[in-house]
Amino acid sequence: MKYWLAMWHILIISIAVVSAQGRYENTNLKQDWWETAVFYQIYPRSFMDSDGDGVGDINGITSRLEYLKELGVDATWLSPIFKSPMHDFGYDVSDYYSIQPEYGSMEDFEQLLRKAGELNIKIILDFVPNHSSNESDWFIKSSNKDEYYSDWYVWENGHLDDRGQRSPPNNWVSVFRKTAWTYMPTRDQYYLHQFGTSQPDFNYRNPVVVEEMKNVIKFWLEKGVAGMRINSINHLFEVDKDVFGGRYPNEPLTGKPGLGPEDYGYLDHVYTKDQDETYDMVSQLRDVFDAISIRDNVTRVMMTEASTTIKNAVKYYGEGIHRGAHIPFNFALIADLDKDSDARDIKFAVDRWLTYKPLKKQANWVTGNHDKSRVASRFRPELVDAFNMLVLLLPGIAITYMGEEIGMVNGFVPWSETKDPQACNTDDPVNFIDVSRDPVRTPFQWSNGKNAGFSSAEVTWLPVAEGYEHLNVAAQRSAVRSHYQVYRTLTNLRLRPAFRLGRYESLALHRDVFAFKRWYNDDTYVVVMNVGRVYHVVNLTAFDLIFGQLEVEASSVLSSRTYSDSVQANYLDLAADEALVLRMQV
Ligand code: NOJ
Ligand code: MG
Repeated sequence: MKYWLAMWHILIISIAVVSAQGRYENTNLKQDWWETAVFYQIYPRSFMDSDGDGVGDINGITSRLEYLKELGVDATWLSPIFKSPMHDFGYDVSDYYSIQPEYGSMEDFEQLLRKAGELNIKIILDFVPNHSSNESDWFIKSSNKDEYYSDWYVWENGHLDDRGQRSPPNNWVSVFRKTAWTYMPTRDQYYLHQFGTSQPDFNYRNPVVVEEMKNVIKFWLEKGVAGMRINSINHLFEVDKDVFGGRYPNEPLTGKPGLGPEDYGYLDHVYTKDQDETYDMVSQLRDVFDAISIRDNVTRVMMTEASTTIKNAVKYYGEGIHRGAHIPFNFALIADLDKDSDARDIKFAVDRWLTYKPLKKQANWVTGNHDKSRVASRFRPELVDAFNMLVLLLPGIAITYMGEEIGMVNGFVPWSETKDPQACNTDDPVNFIDVSRDPVRTPFQWSNGKNAGFSSAEVTWLPVAEGYEHLNVAAQRSAVRSHYQVYRTLTNLRLRPAFRLGRYESLALHRDVFAFKRWYNDDTYVVVMNVGRVYHVVNLTAFDLIFGQLEVEASSVLSSRTYSDSVQANYLDLAADEALVLRMQV
């Protein structure tokens, strides 16, 4: 009986190998540099301060590029470094062609590019096309009705009642709360700002604006950046007001309980987000990237950020005649999961994205950024390695927000020190904490030294998070087991064909245990994570062609297992929070 079973397995394996080979026979195995790259997001203000003013800067980044190399990172995308009054910390650009002086000079940036080039790390910049700063020359000229700039922004007349009381054109609300319209006496008109009052929206129905934006992209690509991350792309267009008799219409109410007319969630944003015209604009911007990529024979990547429904999100891959972005950010692991999520929710979130994503396009995985609570705080610190395994070993591109590789936690920033405009706009010294993004922007924790090794200043722009004395790069570098060590093991593992090219299958083996299999020819891995708080025994033979013994390639920090330990496929006991990468023995 056993003999037949063994023969049966051998037969199946041979068929699988032959068919796998067949499957890849006609495929070009060569991948472009970005297709399975690890992208690391740096928030420049908080990464490394080189000149002791308490604010991170470009030379600080340059001085830590070796660290990125050590981690196994291929590219880094930097939150905005352009000239800005910093009301939204660089997401309010006043000059798209120059560098914010407190971050450094153009020479400093060129030096960063050179050093990164030597280390073969690509630099991606953050481009903010939806709005500029209200202190930009463009906006100042527009608000003075300068002939050329007059229509660069979205201007609209307000209402005057019988008593001469002025009110905004309609009920539109800013993402940061309160009316999205601000009055400018110079024009006796209101300008639209979908974010803060200091961030006036451009008018994308003006072809001159579109041309200028293309020029900005060209300028930085010519300087040598490997691509751009495009901010809030789904806000570019507002509805065409001519369709509504020349006035922007009110947005309908969502009816969500507990919200008032100043809250963003009060309205259904049918006229200010996700407009059909956006996808043609994406296609036009993509042409700018492609022209330079083709000329130089090196791909410059376009990453797009849109907080939207999954159906809208995947449209950014391109559809029909519209070319899309290389990497439309996938926020499924942020938006679809929370601390009550179990293995079934994880499977559902991952598979859902893979289902909606066009078959031939690359997936990407994001668990954090400068806007969202950190993994250790959003879920729990014990699950940091499990989430890094998802990001780094699921099919496609991995995107890590700085600090997630060491499991940094949200800092605490009191109301009196709060800087984030979204938090300040709540006017609420208690509940601001629910929306504040400062806690994920606290200084990077390099060591147990002063200011966690981030800066020699007396005061840093945001306070360092508590617990940095133990939670820092230096400590994790010298520890035998640490999140940092796990992360490096994972970036190494993902170079193998099974993770770069291999197929994917997933199971919720138990309500608490998520597992997925990656395989290429006869090289097969199972990644298994117990996201519950108690011990479980699972049977990995529920996966096709998984049997016998598997060997540990990586294990979460608290696991009792280490590299090359054997486990049995049909009886695997997992401690609470234990996560493993296992390789089938052949
Ligand atoms: C999205 C960015 O990630 C966020 O930080 C910023 O505040 C808004 N866009 C507005 O630019
Ligand atoms: Mg500095």
